[in-house]
Amino acid sequence: MAEQETAVLMLPDGRRIDLPVVIGSEGEQAVDISALRAESGFITLDDGYANTGSCRSAITYIDGERGILRYRGYPIEEIARRSSFTETAQLLIWGELPTADERSRFSQILTDNSALPEDFRRHFAGFPRDAHPMSIMSAMINALQSYDLPGLIIDCDEEFERVAASLMSKARTIAAAAYKSSISEPIQYPRYDLKYTENFLHMMFSRPHREYVASAEAAQALNLFFILHADHEQNCSTSTVRMVASGQANLYASVAAGVCALWGPLHGGANQAVMEMLTELSQTGQSARDYLERVKDRKNNIRLMGFGHRVYRNWDPRALLLKQAADDLLAAMQITDRRLDLARELEEIALHDDYFVARRLYPNVDFYSGIILTALGIPTEMFPVLFSIGRMPGWIANWKELHDDPKQRIYRPRQIYTGSPSRPWISTFKREPVNEMTGSFRFQIAA
Ligand code: ACO
Repeated sequence: MAEQETAVLMLPDGRRIDLPVVIGSEGEQAVDISALRAESGFITLDDGYANTGSCRSAITYIDGERGILRYRGYPIEEIARRSSFTETAQLLIWGELPTADERSRFSQILTDNSALPEDFRRHFAGFPRDAHPMSIMSAMINALQSYDLPGLIIDCDEEFERVAASLMSKARTIAAAAYKSSISEPIQYPRYDLKYTENFLHMMFSRPHREYVASAEAAQALNLFFILHADHEQNCSTSTVRMVASGQANLYASVAAGVCALWGPLHGGANQAVMEMLTELSQTGQSARDYLERVKDRKNNIRLMGFGHRVYRNWDPRALLLKQAADDLLAAMQITDRRLDLARELEEIALHDDYFVARRLYPNVDFYSGIILTALGIPTEMFPVLFSIGRMPGWIANWKELHDDPKQRIYRPRQIYTGSPSRPWISTFKREPVNEMTGSFRFQIAA
């Protein structure tokens, strides 16, 4: 990484500040402003961090203009075609493709750590039946740390590997148990003879009197879903994990925070919102064209869920892979789903509509993923939970990268204060009533 050029900033008072330019391994350029305030008294302001590099990272590369995504240098298309989710996790976390021995060793650690402590059953029983599984997921991952006190201080590579594998493996067990609890069915134990994805499907769908055997197509589609969600550089939830980790919080606590950040409909909850949107359109008989007219009319405050991305201003390569996978899976399972047709229609119209073209809005990873999950029998409210299982390796890799960096400081952005200047205290009987509540939700997510 080169750091020789400088950029020049002229301040309103005529001062000239030289700022180092940082160039990444793919030629991305940044102006390093870390010393700006100390030198000039100025900070930079960037609402929503749209133009802020929060760290240097060697994990994932995205070129949003050209629709490129690579994990550790390997194109996502090649990983999707050739790898498994657990191998992809090793690549992301440790930086290199594992040897055959490393693969089987990691696989064994995943298997050894797949079961939850037996006491955990009581936690599941404590949630209301209609609790959203994301709230169970984040609470349970947080609770895991109470059962692994040695794992709270990671001081060697073996301990990190064990905790990382335990989190990846147990996340899947927790997700399936949360689902079983919500439908009043007995929680299934993981099996020691099944691979990662098949084991998850077993825990989701087996019953005491009937073992579920995942088809090859189902396992392959879910494997692809997990791979495509495994990392996506400094998105909302990964930044949250790094933020929490920068205060030296342990891996469990940092990842639990990531699950919470992922939940919202503009991030990991978008796959659920897409499916709800498609279901509503299908049930009400509203046409794709009419729905898009409503989206474009700003007073309706509706977004076309599964469209648009902060970084991709071109095709999201994950959406292309998932679109093909959705076609293949539905054909293999001989399913026809009106919602897949609707998704195709919405996409076709939007991609030729001035509103979407001008704003460079393309389908994102969530647009077709819900079709696949629905075909696999996964209920809609579990979609963000599956996203969180998939994103686990990325969160762990980012936590490790930060943890291993001796120069790492606590994340602590600044702000421009826009509130009242200093003012005298008002005694209770002289106070005016506060303003009425005016807040309202900004976006409706369903038709
Ligand atoms: N439907 C309609 N209009 C949209 C959409 C959409 N899905 N997305 C963006 N726009 C419009 C905005 O209204 C805005 O229009 P304006 O310039 O006339 O005001 C313009 O496009 C830019 O939108 P921003 O909100 O500034 O874009 P931002 O980068 O902040 O948001 C986001 C990105 C949150 C993904 C947005 O595109 C969105 O809400 N999409 C729908 C939700 C979604 O699918 N989220 C999943 C993202 S992928 C992931 O997290 C895994």
